[in-house]
Amino acid sequence: MSFEINQFTPRGDSQGWLIALEEGRQVPFPIKRVYYIFGTKPGVKRGKHAHRKLRQLAICLSGSCRFIMDDGATRNEFLLTSNTQGLQIDPMVWHEMEEFSADCVLLVLASDIYDESDYIRSKDEFDSLVYQRQH
Ligand code: TYD
Repeated sequence: MSFEINQFTPRGDSQGWLIALEEGRQVPFPIKRVYYIFGTKPGVKRGKHAHRKLRQLAICLSGSCRFIMDDGATRNEFLLTSNTQGLQIDPMVWHEMEEFSADCVLLVLASDIYDESDYIRSKDEFDSLVYQRQH
């Protein structure tokens, strides 16, 4: 699996800019939940989990933060610095976020409501699930 960055087209006029995100267009899943992460303290790492079924799209609305993504085969880092791009977080991708700028506002669109049982919070469990799927 490779990780996908979706590029959004801003609409500009004399008033400034606007980006619209629509289900089935820029967002490839039904949007059942929206949350945003802000005010992250310096040095904090967030995420550190994978989801069993949830699909998400993360957009850094202001500031910047770094994503570390690992699907068990590939590990990539993405520094999100632009509100014109969205990083897709597919199921079974271990992800960690770090280096949040003080002004970072990270918007996340999710395909389902919050469900703790969808989380894999242990890296050992994640690694063994990936292993089982490959063998
Ligand atoms: P968590 O997923 O651990 O945050 P992160 O992975 O970004 O560090 O969530 C932090 C807390 O917020 C945790 O108590 C669960 C709660 N939460 C909700 O109630 N609803 C949500 O949609 C999310 C994402 C988290």
